[in-house]
Amino acid sequence: MTNSNVCALILAAGRGERMKSELVKVLHKAAGFSILEHVIQSVKEAGVRRIVVVIGSQAKQVRASLQSDIEIVYQKKPLGTGHAVLMAESLLKKWRGEVLVLPGDASCLKGKTLRSFIEAHQESGASGRVLTAQVDQPFGYGRVLRQGKHVVRIREELDASREEKLICEINSGIYLFSASELFEKLHRIQRNKKKHEYYLTDVISAFGESGKPVEAHQIDCSDEMLGVNTRIDLQKAHQILMAHEMEKHLANGVTIVNPIQTVIARGVKIGQDTVVHPFTWIDRDVEIGRQCEIGPFAKIRSGSRIHDGAVIGSFVEVVRTRVGKNSRVKHLSYLGDTILGEDVNVGAGTITANYDGKLKQKTVIEDQVFLGCNTVLVAPVTIRKKAKTGAGAVVLARHSVPAGKTVVGVPAKIIKQGKK
Ligand code: UD1
Ligand code: CA
Repeated sequence: MTNSNVCALILAAGRGERMKSELVKVLHKAAGFSILEHVIQSVKEAGVRRIVVVIGSQAKQVRASLQSDIEIVYQKKPLGTGHAVLMAESLLKKWRGEVLVLPGDASCLKGKTLRSFIEAHQESGASGRVLTAQVDQPFGYGRVLRQGKHVVRIREELDASREEKLICEINSGIYLFSASELFEKLHRIQRNKKKHEYYLTDVISAFGESGKPVEAHQIDCSDEMLGVNTRIDLQKAHQILMAHEMEKHLANGVTIVNPIQTVIARGVKIGQDTVVHPFTWIDRDVEIGRQCEIGPFAKIRSGSRIHDGAVIGSFVEVVRTRVGKNSRVKHLSYLGDTILGEDVNVGAGTITANYDGKLKQKTVIEDQVFLGCNTVLVAPVTIRKKAKTGAGAVVLARHSVPAGKTVVGVPAKIIKQGKK
């Protein structure tokens, strides 16, 4: 279901000083994606199609990380979250619907939480809505000052009184506003006296004062509210995102022997009855079939497709590689840019030499091939159906092995019939 009257505005122009990094905060990665990419994915999962990102610090790099369907506006100087939203005013001048504002560092938010937030807002008919949660450790977050279901004000840590600091309901930084009212109110806010920034949170009280109070939308799962400000937060985000992914796979009938020692990027597909052993690393854009055996200590990189019943064993790395049904790559191998057929046995230590110094070259290994231990396949090369290689064979580039033949040695040569 799409939410065509909602436009998302993601604030990602800040430098992220608290990360203590040369790299801008939103490009740091957790669970296989940048923090900003996670926010964008959740927004898309919630059915929002129009997405605008405010960029500023390291704009070139952030821009390069975004797909072409994302609109961009610039904030030259990071003068605060309120100022960042104002930068989108002219772009959204004609937007008659709602604006969903999100910080670029809310990477743990689930798409379905966002969807219910939007739905509840649309049913309420209120002018604004803010996503909040009760937490044990509210330090650093804006505190929600309420009157019943309405939010009177959001008080930042720096400005909060001792009593206000005791409030454990925090602001997620995620809001829905009617576009025209949001910009109209934003023009009225003043710079914060301590930080000299325009706080977006100050529009909340502006709405209340104009007789259109903003509603609070409290959720139970405080993990989703995490804003990544420091490296400690980044590590927490990784754990939370991993836990979300693991839950999904376990519910789908995948065995993950020890989720804490396993990394599976967001969006990876794994079929029922596959077993993932510890210390396995699976990147984004990977699909694994049913009844496969993966790891321990396997690294499956982007662009790989592992079909039903295949085994990717210990200390095996595959990248941009298709492994056909019931094929076995059990120990100490590297397969890059390879198309591997069905029922292939890849001997321990087999390596595809896929990089010639300039280009990545392809290897094709057809059905029922048997590769002896320590085979090196110099790409581009094809090993035809039912062919075999002897232990230690080095098959040179463009020296394809014909179907049913056996090659041995360095460089590998076909052995004559009858010769062992
Ligand atoms: C903000 C909220 C706080 C809330 C918390 C939730 C304000 C004033 N405070 O605090 O109430 O509890 O998020 O995580 O909004 N950004 C810009 N331009 C700027 C400043 C910031 O684009 O000039 C972007 C940042 O890149 C970041 C996001 O806005 O992605 C939020 O900024 P951040 O500095 O992380 O705000 P917090 O202090 O966490
Ligand atoms: Ca933050």
